[in-house]
Amino acid sequence: MCGILGYTGDRQASEILLAGLARLEYRGYDSAGIAVLKDGTVQVAKNKGRLKVLEEKTHGGRDIQGTCGIGHTRWATHGEPSDINAHPLWSDDMSVVAVHNGIVENYREIKNMLANHGYAFYSQTDTEAAVKLIDYFYKQSHNPLKAITEAIKVIEGSYCFVMLFKDFPGEVWGARKDLPLIAGQGKSESFLASDVSAILQDTRSVYYLDNMDIVQLKKGVVRFFDTEGYAKHKELSEVTWDAQAAEKGGFEHFMMKEIHEQARAVRDTFGSVFHSGKVDLSDSGLTDEVMKSVSQVYIVACGSAYHVGAAAQYIIEDLAKIPVRIEMASEFRYRNLPLDKNALAIIISQSGETADTLAAMRLARESGIKTLAIVNVVGSTIAREADNVFYTMAGPEIAVATTKAYSAQLIACYVIAMEFARVRRTITPTYYESLIGEIQALPEKIDEILDEKEKLEELAGRFVNARNAFYLGRNIDYAVAMEGSLKMKEISYLHSEAIAAGEMKHGPISLIERGMLVAGIMTQKNLALKIASNMLEAKSRGGFILMVAMRGCEALQEEADMVFTVPETDPHFAASLAVIPLQLLGYYVAVARKLDVDKPRNLAKSVTVE
Ligand code: F6R
Repeated sequence: MCGILGYTGDRQASEILLAGLARLEYRGYDSAGIAVLKDGTVQVAKNKGRLKVLEEKTHGGRDIQGTCGIGHTRWATHGEPSDINAHPLWSDDMSVVAVHNGIVENYREIKNMLANHGYAFYSQTDTEAAVKLIDYFYKQSHNPLKAITEAIKVIEGSYCFVMLFKDFPGEVWGARKDLPLIAGQGKSESFLASDVSAILQDTRSVYYLDNMDIVQLKKGVVRFFDTEGYAKHKELSEVTWDAQAAEKGGFEHFMMKEIHEQARAVRDTFGSVFHSGKVDLSDSGLTDEVMKSVSQVYIVACGSAYHVGAAAQYIIEDLAKIPVRIEMASEFRYRNLPLDKNALAIIISQSGETADTLAAMRLARESGIKTLAIVNVVGSTIAREADNVFYTMAGPEIAVATTKAYSAQLIACYVIAMEFARVRRTITPTYYESLIGEIQALPEKIDEILDEKEKLEELAGRFVNARNAFYLGRNIDYAVAMEGSLKMKEISYLHSEAIAAGEMKHGPISLIERGMLVAGIMTQKNLALKIASNMLEAKSRGGFILMVAMRGCEALQEEADMVFTVPETDPHFAASLAVIPLQLLGYYVAVARKLDVDKPRNLAKSVTVE
């Protein structure tokens, strides 16, 4: 996610902002910028690329004098990484200059409304719409607080804004919804930051803003307001952690932090295509005409992204009744598969740079097939070369083992499956509406599972010295088993295999030994008895039986060594919940083995060679 900063005090703001942004670099970014207010003028410097470029351009900040300013590292979501789209963004007369984290979901409506009042737009960002909306209200009252309270009544989505108002020297304003913002208190200076690690060097006295709080900084003074503009009291806290722990939001590893960011990633990914009560995939090229004319779907990806595709195959086929082929990119590219020109190729990649996936996509395009890329990194090669893109909103993933990007990719696939089904009338409007409700309920259910993580930590202790594990499932649960097994092996180095449960008797069952972990996934009611008997076969050969079951679908309560239950959802969306305990189990076994969870041996985050 983007990094955000604000400063006002006695020192040169630009130097403090650049140093603070450097401490936020770990979050991942593609552009950076600062703005400093002095004598009624706001000076801005920003660019695509590294912070180093900004430092060189401003001679370490010395070119931009002033003691009140804001800064940002951007990780593009709306609009490619570019100098223009980099933050800060401003209103035309520079009355309002702001940086923003998050997504303004209704930016199109806001732009249309403002266009009717004579506003024009210079960037491709959603942020500019918000900045100009604040300006619109500011022009009516010349009161920053009033302008912010009015604007946040209109803005939908998740956000954290930090702002300068040209006519209010020495002041920095902030507002947050669903994204973090903290205020720091120094002797004669004050700070705003998205992440405490950015300001720990300067102060350990901080205020944690609540959702929907508005904050005003003056030199050494921090004041808070609610959405009606009434002053609020907040308690100052002292930070006792070290800077490194702060970057991880208090978690021991980035992987655990990212596991906890999944509810947000799911919410934001769905929010990015759900406007004014309707799903709209036209930005991804999926118009009703296109969805009606597609004859079949190829899904091409690697690793965990392939596992998302494996789940999507079951979901799209079942909901939309379109044949789907799921292909490993490394196989697809050398297969000479006779390709159907009326097919749609869905390419899934977190990084957007995976060599095999990119090559497979190029092959599909050369064959005249329409390509839709589901990608997390804006401006990546796959995103640039695909005919259309559906951006997941997971934010930068630092841990090598993917978690939140996987969850966001699933959401993209659910929405695509539902839209095909709606347009092709293979599901009823009532069922379609209920599916939307189910997606919206997923974030809360994910957090509910995370509340029980200690159970898996305890279980992991049992497998510290284990050598082998099996993960069994059928249908979507097989796709989840593949992901759970990969999570286990890649970070804990415990050899594990995912098996389509019906295949057990065709060979793998001979490997079961006393005490071996056999995890069974059970979320599909119609298959519960089938998987139950496969698990009993494993148990009678000495396996330790872990059932990950959806509420209402639990079997083997008596026979299993442990049953971990996940909340109920529509069975098509069960992967989003069933995968969480498996991510946690892999994580805890790796921690118990004292391994480098975030950087497992031999693996890279972006696999740019084949
Ligand atoms: C596993 C993992 C990998 C990636 C795979 C594809 O945790 O992260 O299996 O899923 O290397 O990477 P992307 O999605 O960047 O194409």
